[in-house]
Amino acid sequence: MARESVGKTFVVAIVLAAFCSLLVSGAAIGLRSKQEANKVRDRKKNILVVAGLHDAQTPVEEAFQQVEVRIVDIESGEFVAGDQFDPETFDQRAAAKDPELSVAIPAAKDLAGIGRREKYSLVYLVKKDDKLDQVILPIDGKGLWSTLYGFLALGDDLNTVRGITWYEHAETPGLGGEIDNPLWKAQWDGKKLYDPQGNYKFQIVKGQAAQSGPAADYQIDGLSGATLTANGVANLVQYWLGEDGFKKMLERLKTEGV
Ligand SMILES: Cc1cc2nc3c(=O)[nH]c(=O)nc-3n(C[C@H](O)[C@H](O)[C@H](O)COP(=O)(O)O)c2cc1C
Repeated sequence: MARESVGKTFVVAIVLAAFCSLLVSGAAIGLRSKQEANKVRDRKKNILVVAGLHDAQTPVEEAFQQVEVRIVDIESGEFVAGDQFDPETFDQRAAAKDPELSVAIPAAKDLAGIGRREKYSLVYLVKKDDKLDQVILPIDGKGLWSTLYGFLALGDDLNTVRGITWYEHAETPGLGGEIDNPLWKAQWDGKKLYDPQGNYKFQIVKGQAAQSGPAADYQIDGLSGATLTANGVANLVQYWLGEDGFKKMLERLKTEGV
């Protein structure tokens, strides 16, 4: 072959492409476990943030020791025995897609737009002086462009919101992405989800929420220019706090304790 030829150019390009693809796939495989570990750590950090237990000085793993991880059978509202699943390794998102570990949600009930719901869910308990202080619930559902994944923290009355956070979504920054705005999230703190009769009453209002009167306890402002994402959030929270979600577990905790 001539020193400079079309054939040689192709050979060099092919060898270079093969080398680079090996490098990229090798890096992807080699770093997978690290990426997974980082995801788990990020989720734990979000749980600490929503529970108001995060501070930059304390390592996440150390702070997370204040959190008790349980697995609940959503349909019965009962916690499952430790030997059925290991809360450390239980992959809830994989379970939500597994036909054995999930149930189809009839369209009329599927407020969260997720199609299937896992039968078992992780829940996180925070205790103070041996008494339940907070319950943190994983929540997910459709926004406008993406599925939103987050956590909702409830206080010891199992009705008052202590915080909400999202660890994954792909809504538009500046529009739906404003669900991450600390000022918007701060409005959730102290709001009630159910009325004294146990009916779900929380609302995200298009425009401004009631500032006084009986409705003020149950409302927050909508997101201007992002009503569709805000509606998604309202619907998914209602779904997960409803009969098909965590309501049975919350009622059981109220009557029987942890
Ligand atoms: C490029 C583009 C991205 C948008 N992203 C979002 C979004 O992430 N969330 C959302 O609710 N609306 C988004 N919108 C706006 C919606 O189409 C819709 O107009 C809006 O949700 C209505 O809210 P409003 O009644 O408060 O204006 C987007 C619009 C455009 C053109």
